[in-house]
Amino acid sequence: MSDIKIRPVGYALGAELSGIDLSRPLSTADFETIKRALQQHLMLCFPGQQLSRDNIVDFASRFGPVDDNSTVKHRDPENPRVTMLSSKPFAGKPWDTFKNGDHWHSDRSFRPDPTAYTLLYAVEMPDVGGNTMFANQYMSYETISPKLQAFLEQLETVHLQTRKASAMMAKQFPAVVHPLIRVHPDTGRKALYLGEHARGFVGMTEEESQPLLDYLTAHATRPEFVYRHAWHVNDFVMWDNRCLMHIAVRDYDMSPGGPARHLLKCSVQGESIGRWYETVTGHKYDLEIAERSGVSQDQAAAVVGASSS
Ligand SMILES: [Fe+2]
Repeated sequence: MSDIKIRPVGYALGAELSGIDLSRPLSTADFETIKRALQQHLMLCFPGQQLSRDNIVDFASRFGPVDDNSTVKHRDPENPRVTMLSSKPFAGKPWDTFKNGDHWHSDRSFRPDPTAYTLLYAVEMPDVGGNTMFANQYMSYETISPKLQAFLEQLETVHLQTRKASAMMAKQFPAVVHPLIRVHPDTGRKALYLGEHARGFVGMTEEESQPLLDYLTAHATRPEFVYRHAWHVNDFVMWDNRCLMHIAVRDYDMSPGGPARHLLKCSVQGESIGRWYETVTGHKYDLEIAERSGVSQDQAAAVVGASSS
């Protein structure tokens, strides 16, 4: 029997859970309640939690293998399974990875086994702003016409890490192909799977891909599919990347000396759904991928030019 109280906070998604202290061991009954709530509401907030790094990792590991963050800079010195999203200087130097995530995305979609659950713990927050928005991708899929759904079911999307990625990460994850429509392994529901790393569709030209990507992204982020979370210090939030996209809103003073926004992050690895993208088709991103694989720019351009002619 669980004492957890669940209060929906958005029409599209989101619930606040109270009546539980996550710094204490999690009972099986509470775990089951939380998992069911997550399947129903997709994003959960546990306000007012006092959590150590180990508490965060212990909780996350109940939901699956926790990412070791081996390709991520700015791991927390106390526990490398935790990373920091922060507007504060790191090791005495300013850094700007806190600007990441300001386009709609699903975490680490550039990997064959993208993140299933992301967990964020708010340590410092501006008085106002620094919000995160989430969009329900079940709704996005379910509101597309059956004719277009049938077409989209056949498509595979090329996901490519953005240019601002570290060289280490870009080399490790050159490009990956995912189905455009994902079936959630727990709920069996279909969801649109897109995000800022989606660059085109396998077998389609750039001219064909881009307008469809633009349309689907606009549709997937319609206001009625969105919940906007205004953070409070000690909020512990988790969400399911397999049926949500999210975006970090730059709605606060990000200049040096501005208010701090500091969160601790932990990622639960998801199932493998992708395959490596190796076909050179003449897309501009083929050149980018070839460069990342250590091929010289001239060689890469020659390969891409030959395949597109
Ligand atoms: Fe993210």
